Amino acid sequence: MRTLKRLFQSFGRPRQSRLHPFDRAHGTDTGGLIPADRLRTPHPSSAHITAYYPMSPSRFQGAIDLWLRSPPTHPIEQHTFVDLGCGKGRALLLASELPFRQALGVELHPRLVAIARRNLCRWQAAHRDRCPTGVLQADAADLRLPPGPCLLYLFHPFAEPVTRRLINHLRSQQPASLDIIYFNPEAAALWLNQPEIRLLWSEVLPMSPEDAAADPVANPDDLCHGYRWTRPPNEPAEVQPRSIPQHSH
Ligand SMILES: C[S@@+](CC[C@H](N)C(=O)[O-])C[C@H]1O[C@@H](n2cnc3c(N)ncnc32)[C@H](O)[C@@H]1O
Repeated sequence: MRTLKRLFQSFGRPRQSRLHPFDRAHGTDTGGLIPADRLRTPHPSSAHITAYYPMSPSRFQGAIDLWLRSPPTHPIEQHTFVDLGCGKGRALLLASELPFRQALGVELHPRLVAIARRNLCRWQAAHRDRCPTGVLQADAADLRLPPGPCLLYLFHPFAEPVTRRLINHLRSQQPASLDIIYFNPEAAALWLNQPEIRLLWSEVLPMSPEDAAADPVANPDDLCHGYRWTRPPNEPAEVQPRSIPQHSH
């Protein structure tokens, strides 16, 4: 798996990607690679941002298909979709086309929040949204779970310290029905070490030829994990790290 850090090293200076077909088709601004050092703010969690980089639509659809086949514990119509680290909102816009109960994007960086909101206005003006959708400026680790079943989506947004805070905060809310899609799961060991977490899948998601041609950064080997937060067991938490499976079928 190629980390974003290694990517910047291999690319030297981050480069502007070509206009993605998604943005050409919808008049949105979701493209580009913004390195972590350009996303620092006075907020302490900003020190752990990985980068801004948007999800390929074909891979997003692949992750949703895996989730639907998992299968979810409740119908999609009862789930709130939450993109933790929604950036400019590409994955959020794609989620809003699905019949979720609602779709929320959470983003720390104010400039990205403003762009995501502009993109969402354009999307809604074109009537592409099928569910109530919004963008929240907040630290993902402080997420207050919405009522009802929830699907969290993370495209490797932050490093371990924020992931750890997020997991602890989720635990304090005793989620009743929580699934997690984690793309490029570099902090997977933390999730998999939680007694409540069950691995649903570990897959490499293919990209459409159109996405592959437009995406100078994504690696064909990038993994996607699916997790289900299960009821807390009676036993105390296991502390030994488990090995991370590469594939499940
Ligand atoms: C790799 S981008 C993912 C973009 C989007 N989710 C998508 O799939 O198209 C990660 C995003 O997470 C945001 N982020 C990082 N740490 C965050 C935090 N603690 N709270 C909210 N957003 C955060 C970054 O600013 C960046 O926009």
